[in-house]
Amino acid sequence: MEVFTTVKEMKAYVRAVKQRRETICLVPTMGYLHKGHTDLMRMGRGLADHLVISIFVNPTQFGPKEDLAKYPRDFERDSRLAEEVGVECIFYPETLEMYPPGYATYVNVEEITETLCGLSRPTHFRGVTTVVAKLFNIVEPDVSVFGEKDYQQLTVIRKMVKDLDMNVRVVSHPTVREDDGLAMSSRNRYLSPSQRKNALVLIGSLRRARELVRGGEHDAAKIQAMAVDMISSTPECAVDYVEIVDPDTLCPVDRIDGRAVMALAVKVGSTRLIDNAELK
Ligand code: PAF
Repeated sequence: MEVFTTVKEMKAYVRAVKQRRETICLVPTMGYLHKGHTDLMRMGRGLADHLVISIFVNPTQFGPKEDLAKYPRDFERDSRLAEEVGVECIFYPETLEMYPPGYATYVNVEEITETLCGLSRPTHFRGVTTVVAKLFNIVEPDVSVFGEKDYQQLTVIRKMVKDLDMNVRVVSHPTVREDDGLAMSSRNRYLSPSQRKNALVLIGSLRRARELVRGGEHDAAKIQAMAVDMISSTPECAVDYVEIVDPDTLCPVDRIDGRAVMALAVKVGSTRLIDNAELK
C-alpha cells in the first residue's frame, strides 16, 4: 500500500492509472477508522480497479468552538486497517498541503446546507464541500463512497456533484451500527459508560418513529414530539434537532405519505451525535 502526502505525488499516481484506462474509487475519511469506514472501503473495492482513501482532518469543516484539536487521530492503526481491507493507496496530506498560505477558494451549496446540522454548524458544509471538491480534483475518482449516517452531507455532496457537473458517481452505504444499534462514529469514543448507554435513545427514538408510522400515524409533528420527549427525558441528553424531511430536498414534511427521513442530532454530555432513518 502506498501513502502519498503531497498533491503532486497523488496526481502522478492518478495520471498513471488513467493512462492505463483503469478506474479509481475514493473513500474520503478523517481517519480514526472503524467498521463504519472499513465497510465503505469493502464496498468501494468492488466498484473500481483501484481503491484510494484519504485521511485528512479537515479544519474548514470545524467551527471555532468544535473538537478539531481533540479529534482522534491514529495513523499507524488506520494504515494497518486500510491495508487489511485492500486499500491500494492512502492520500494523507498535512493541512498546509491542502490549504497553503493565501488559500481563498470555497465551494458552497446553498439552501440544503442551511437546515438540520447547518443551523448549529453554519460553516460546516462549506468546509465539507470545499475539501471534497479538492479531493475529487486531486484523485479524479470515477466513483466515491459516503455513509448514510451523515445523511445531510451525502445529500449536499450529491447536489454539488450534480450542480458542478463533476465526473464522479456518488454511492452511499447504509449506516453501520454497533450490536445494540448505536451508529458507529469516531466521536463515540468521547462517551462515558453512562453516556454510551443513554446514547441508545437516538436509535430508540428512530425505531419508535418507524413503529408509529407502521401503525398508521401520518402526522409528522406527533412523531417528532414523541422523539423530542423521549430524548429530553433521557439523562445527559439534549435535543439539537429532530426533523422529518423530504429525502431529496431536506424540507420538513407535515404528513408522512411517501418517503420521509427522520434526522436527529443530540448532545449526549458534550458530545454531539447524529443519526437518521427512512420512515417509509
Ligand atoms: O464524513 C467525513 O468523514 C468528512 O466529512 C469527509 C467527507 C471526509 C470530508 O472531510
